[in-house]
Amino acid sequence: MDQVCMRAERAPDEGFAMTIQDKMQHSAIVEGYMSGFGNEFATEAVSGALPIGQNSPQRVPLGLYAEQFSGTAFTMPRTEVRRTWFYRIRPSAAQSAFVPLAHAGVDADYAKASPNRMRWDPMPLLPGSDFIDGLVPIARTIDAPDCGISAWRYAADRPMQRSFYSADGEMLFVPHEGQARFRTECGTLDVSPGEICVIPRGMKFAIDPVAGPVRGYICENHGADLRLPDLGPIGSNCLANPRDFLTPVAAYDEATGDHELVAKFQGALWTTTLDHSPLDVVAWHGNNVPYKYDLFRFNAVGTVSYDHPDPSIYTVLTSPSPVRGQANIDFVIFPPRWMVAENTFRPPWYHRNLMNELMGLVTGVYDAKAEGFTPGGVSLHPRMSAHGPDKDTTRRAEEAALAPHKQEGTMAFMFETHANFAASLAPVCAAALQADYDDCWAGIEGRFRGNAR
Ligand SMILES: [Fe+2]
Repeated sequence: MDQVCMRAERAPDEGFAMTIQDKMQHSAIVEGYMSGFGNEFATEAVSGALPIGQNSPQRVPLGLYAEQFSGTAFTMPRTEVRRTWFYRIRPSAAQSAFVPLAHAGVDADYAKASPNRMRWDPMPLLPGSDFIDGLVPIARTIDAPDCGISAWRYAADRPMQRSFYSADGEMLFVPHEGQARFRTECGTLDVSPGEICVIPRGMKFAIDPVAGPVRGYICENHGADLRLPDLGPIGSNCLANPRDFLTPVAAYDEATGDHELVAKFQGALWTTTLDHSPLDVVAWHGNNVPYKYDLFRFNAVGTVSYDHPDPSIYTVLTSPSPVRGQANIDFVIFPPRWMVAENTFRPPWYHRNLMNELMGLVTGVYDAKAEGFTPGGVSLHPRMSAHGPDKDTTRRAEEAALAPHKQEGTMAFMFETHANFAASLAPVCAAALQADYDDCWAGIEGRFRGNAR
């Protein structure tokens, strides 16, 4: 009963400037994914491996072991519960004790949280790095456990010969360079720039560069699991549609021999050695699963009269907090879209917000900054710290002829959180910090001519 659903595969020569119509014409049907968000999926890599009608029978088919993988407390409301049943070659309990694993980035301290606006250049790749070697923190929030986020960048040019999981949060990957193959307990996802991938808290996985180095951003979400936002008056469609989220079918690795498993737990790395691959799940069913999503399928909604709505209309996924309407983390994108507003300053306005905004760029140019913010770069605008377009962007926007205009070939994103960030002091991160970021707002002149009236 292998479940194989359809996905639309990106054509090999496809660029970022393609329109939705182009993408649909280039679509092809391939196997390997199940579509939907939050579904109760069921899949088996070997026929007959998945028990029917019972989660943990006395003897699991094919000599497998049953294991429940819970991402939420058992007693959460039914709509919140995430759990998956694994049918695997060996139970995960078959392991020896973890010992601490030193890591220059993960072990680095964080600065005191500050109201200063910050921006970092793209991060260099140290040749010979696998994903764990190339993990560098940007900033983390200072909230208690089980809320807030940690933001990371990663770079790798070597496949992982080991596996990894984070007990501290689910991991949202936003790649900006290179195709990566995520091998997970639930199966395999191939993820390229323009797509995102989410790995549940605690799920074991490995990342392999497919062709050339891979680099990207990570939002490690310590709070409630990411989900699709409610749509309110927008209705039952638009923004990210559930059918475009893809989850892998079961695939397993039955290799034996020494295998390193690295765990992230309470902010530090730990290592142990197994005598087999931990990616040995032959069949599974449930909803606590990895998934990917093509950001260029996002159905953007915007104004057709004047002004522009708050950027919350570009929310792809949200992690709610206990405060109604105030997210622990919103993952927001700024995709290609038409700008048609009349008599309107079209870039983002100047603003001061409750929410903290950590931004990155996958490709192209972000419309609020003339320079200094390139793919792989990061900016951080803390709570109530004023920001907005730089001087040159403001002048151009005020003088522009306001014809309908297509914002093409761009994909910026934001991790927006209620929690305040502390910046990492990891040397690779600190070296990329731009000392002159505030200068982009320097020289904005006062033009008030009240006395001339
Ligand atoms: Fe902002």
